[in-house]
Amino acid sequence: MGPSRILHLMNPLRHEFIASCLAEGPPPAVLEASSPNSANLHYLDIGCGGGIFAESLARTIPLDPSAPAPTPSRAASMTAIDPTTTLIQIAKEHARMDPTVDAHLRSGRFRYLNTTLEDVLASPTAPESQSTQPTAAQAQHPQFDVVTLFEVIEHIDPNTTTPQAFLANCLRALKPGGWLVGSTISRTFPSFILNQVIAEAPWPIGVVPRGTHEWRKFVNPPELHAWAQEGLMRAADSAATRGWPFPAGRDEVEMCWSCLCARSRVEDGAGLRKLGQLLLGCEEGHLNYHVAFVAFGL
Ligand SMILES: C[S@@+](CC[C@H](N)C(=O)[O-])C[C@H]1O[C@@H](n2cnc3c(N)ncnc32)[C@H](O)[C@@H]1O
Repeated sequence: MGPSRILHLMNPLRHEFIASCLAEGPPPAVLEASSPNSANLHYLDIGCGGGIFAESLARTIPLDPSAPAPTPSRAASMTAIDPTTTLIQIAKEHARMDPTVDAHLRSGRFRYLNTTLEDVLASPTAPESQSTQPTAAQAQHPQFDVVTLFEVIEHIDPNTTTPQAFLANCLRALKPGGWLVGSTISRTFPSFILNQVIAEAPWPIGVVPRGTHEWRKFVNPPELHAWAQEGLMRAADSAATRGWPFPAGRDEVEMCWSCLCARSRVEDGAGLRKLGQLLLGCEEGHLNYHVAFVAFGL
């Protein structure tokens, strides 16, 4: 597992986290599905790196699209993007070793794209990213039911974008009623000690190469909240300027926001699931955007 072993260890928790979110606020595609177990959610994994999460999610896509979803992720497709060419190559090579995942790569239900989020948003709408029922605020770029952003926002290059602008674009890629689910590291003194001093210490103490993290780029929950709110307003503005109607009877777009600062003693899956279950707060029937983040730290 090498320097990615922490990400591998976190990966099952991500699945549980998403399952909790979907259970609390099912996206419209789930509510509209003909069968209660339909695999009909389209995922976008932003900053997929070597594909640790993307591949594990792709493994849950049924080979037969009409078959029931084997897991609560209800994945019908996964588009995984990353601007780092070598990582996408590694991810593709690894994915080809699993016959099921390879089949999804061939069918196009699982795609790795060596690209940026901005380029995805600039591309014409990909049919598989849209539900059969067009959403009221249908975008001219691809939109997804679930957008995942695991350990990416703290790696954003400030010379090319800002976390605010990046988060705004993540929200533009999300269908109304969908979920943006992510995790990051909060900028606290203990997180500096843990993530930079200890995690990046020389072997055999350290677990990641020196320079993997920059403490100043870590993100605290209030910052995430403000950026997400701003991003949503921008998404709503761009919808309005394009003349898209808002959902029936609604003249505004709302966001169901939750960001939890996970303390390090929350270390098992049940703990993270519980955090996910705390992500309530949406009034039933509201066509909200859901944003759920965990900021790890003390
Ligand atoms: C720590 S890795 C996370 C990998 C993966 N999400 C996971 O958890 O297994 C951070 C990734 O963010 C990607 N990244 C950095 N800036 C990005 C951007 N502007 N858009 C998309 N990905 C970006 C990097 O290329 C890198 O692969």
